Amino acid sequence: MTMSDLKDYLRKVAAATETTLQEILPGETDYPGSIHQLMRYSIFAGGKRIRPSLLMASFEACGGTFGDQGALKAGAALEMFHTFSLIHDDLPCMDDDDFRRGRPTAHKAFNEALAVLGGDALCIAAFEVLGSLGNIALITEIASALGTNGMLGGQVVDIESEGKTVDRETVEYIHRSKTAALIRASVRMGAIIAGASTEAIEKLSNYGNYIGLAFQVVDDILDEESTTEQLGKDAGSDRERGKATFPAVCGMEESKRYARELTESAWKEIGFLGPKGDLLHQLAEFIITRIS
Ligand code: IPE
Ligand code: IPE
Ligand code: MG
Ligand code: MG
Ligand code: MG
Repeated sequence: MTMSDLKDYLRKVAAATETTLQEILPGETDYPGSIHQLMRYSIFAGGKRIRPSLLMASFEACGGTFGDQGALKAGAALEMFHTFSLIHDDLPCMDDDDFRRGRPTAHKAFNEALAVLGGDALCIAAFEVLGSLGNIALITEIASALGTNGMLGGQVVDIESEGKTVDRETVEYIHRSKTAALIRASVRMGAIIAGASTEAIEKLSNYGNYIGLAFQVVDDILDEESTTEQLGKDAGSDRERGKATFPAVCGMEESKRYARELTESAWKEIGFLGPKGDLLHQLAEFIITRIS
């Protein structure tokens, strides 16, 4: 499995996820149209679809077959949860950003009230999709990843740390919570749907934790080193807002070293999969070598 094979895989998952999302999301003319237009505007703006890809790769590594309807629907739900988090993250009361996925943010293209409601609607519709799969474990998994012990907790400390000097432990807490929790849940959900053993799920959880943290460290590095055109979202906005980022707290060189170390730790956790872990191995490499 080369990086170019992995990119083909990402394209395949993205296409299948788009098809599933098209079927799930209410139509733009369904009353009240404005909110459905906003939901579609934000979700069909591209995006790497890394979370559905992690879910499907983990599902396949645990014996599942690509394209399984349950796995695709769960992946689509992940993109809905993720897009909800992005719409709210960009709001003026949060990061106050103007660009996302190569276009104006939802509150800029529509308005703030509709962006709040559209984010809520995506989150709630995603629970409905997961509910339709009839597996309570998936609901519990995502609820705990998104709650105050996961993404929301991380977002709170992220916002409360703006403009302050924080230590490495705090920035690790923020990153594990706001980003790694959902990435770890994506990997776990693939394994859960495939009916993997408790031991396998445990190792995959550790893998998810490592790559999830690496993902946010790299997001911070890219915010500093890349451009708005390349990222499709406002570059340099972390420094502008005095965000608690890895480069700000530990320096750029240490951030890059740490992202690599986390990836190597992740690889060790999935060693037990042998060649079946190739996709997950390459996905971890992609996460730290990506340019957007
Ligand atoms: C951005 O996530 C938000 C973070 C958690 C860092 P992605 O980089 O996965 O964004 P898209 O989905 O590709 O737009
Ligand atoms: C986002 O962190 C984490 C979320 C829960 C959305 P960032 O604020 O760094 O994400 P970007 O850089 O705006 O995508
Ligand atoms: Mg943020
Ligand atoms: Mg942000
Ligand atoms: Mg960022």
